[in-house]
Amino acid sequence: MIDVHKIRLDFPIYETHPNLVFFDSAASSLKVKHVIDKVDYYYQKLGVNVHRGAYDLAYEATTLYENARQNVARFIHANEEEIVFTRGTTSALNTIASAYIKQLKPGDEIITSELEHHSSIIPWMIVAKKTGAKLVYIPLTKEGRITVEGFRKVLSDRTKIVAITHVSNVMGYLTPIEEITKFAHEKNAIVILDAAQSAPHIKLDVRTLDVDFLAFSGHKMFGPSGVGVLYGKEKLLNQIEPFEYGGEMVDQVSKDFVSFKDAPLRFEAGTPVISGAIGLSAAIDYIESIGFEDIHQHTHEIHQYLLKELEEVEGITIYNKTADNPVIAFNIDDVHPHDIATMLDGSKVSVRAGHHCAQLVSQFLGVQSTLRASIHIYNSKEDCDIFIQSVIEARDFFRQF
Ligand code: ALA
Repeated sequence: MIDVHKIRLDFPIYETHPNLVFFDSAASSLKVKHVIDKVDYYYQKLGVNVHRGAYDLAYEATTLYENARQNVARFIHANEEEIVFTRGTTSALNTIASAYIKQLKPGDEIITSELEHHSSIIPWMIVAKKTGAKLVYIPLTKEGRITVEGFRKVLSDRTKIVAITHVSNVMGYLTPIEEITKFAHEKNAIVILDAAQSAPHIKLDVRTLDVDFLAFSGHKMFGPSGVGVLYGKEKLLNQIEPFEYGGEMVDQVSKDFVSFKDAPLRFEAGTPVISGAIGLSAAIDYIESIGFEDIHQHTHEIHQYLLKELEEVEGITIYNKTADNPVIAFNIDDVHPHDIATMLDGSKVSVRAGHHCAQLVSQFLGVQSTLRASIHIYNSKEDCDIFIQSVIEARDFFRQF
């Protein structure tokens, strides 16, 4: 069971901002001291490159970096050869999309959805344009969910790629990915999962999910920004072309020949995100010290409490009352979300307003943009009460005009 007062001691931001009411964890979570300390250790005590040096400092840095890879692998039940450190989910998803340009042709189909974050759909839109392949959208339910039935309606012998989100960053719906993957594999299609929003809340097991590629970021799970993970099945990773070329990913070079190392190094050209990987590994340790069960129990309780309170406020539209992840997308009738978000900030309440880098979701909902409140382990019922009071004040203020 989570004690919010105790948890907040782990997040230094509350020392300088004790009245912070932070409901924007889906954009980026707050950062935990344990992570900051590990990143600090690398910069204060090491600061050197990995894989290249024959001296003690380089040996320790390399050990920390490769231990981080092992820790990530263990965390999602992968092999360490299957873990590539990237700049984030976006660069991981772009890496895969660019690799499949060579393998797609006119007539092939890429299945995706209107729930996607731009990073999970724009790379494939570009790939479709370049190859003549076609983007096909899973019909969503009225509520806006991806279902197995909807997926099967668009799955065909032409399907080569399935690129979808595990949890929508706006609606918080969980995709039934295991069944979808099973059907996709029957057609020999490759499944790429955007797990940026699920990784901070759900135990990921790539063996059970059986997806071919999966991506997530450090900064949404209490870790540093600028680091992410690309998981790929080892055989597939070694079949596809790297996205970037440079140092440490090359095996042999002559004047007119180059061969690449096996995964994961073939995808880590140049100096990698050393401090980021070390920090992400520390974030994983922190999450595991709390446990996903307690994380879920707490965030679910706060989510339901906030939802119930918000439902009672007159003049509010909530778009995702049945969300699986603790996120609420809503609007105050006839007021622009940015005006509300700015006013909430006056009460130290942080939410996100806009299209949340998922314009197709706004289009599906028939709105320009929404407000989004997203919850994590440091949120309390007091936060919810302050949030509701601020929303009512903002609504009443704008109603005067
Ligand atoms: N993808 C992040 C969000 O949903 C930035 O806000």
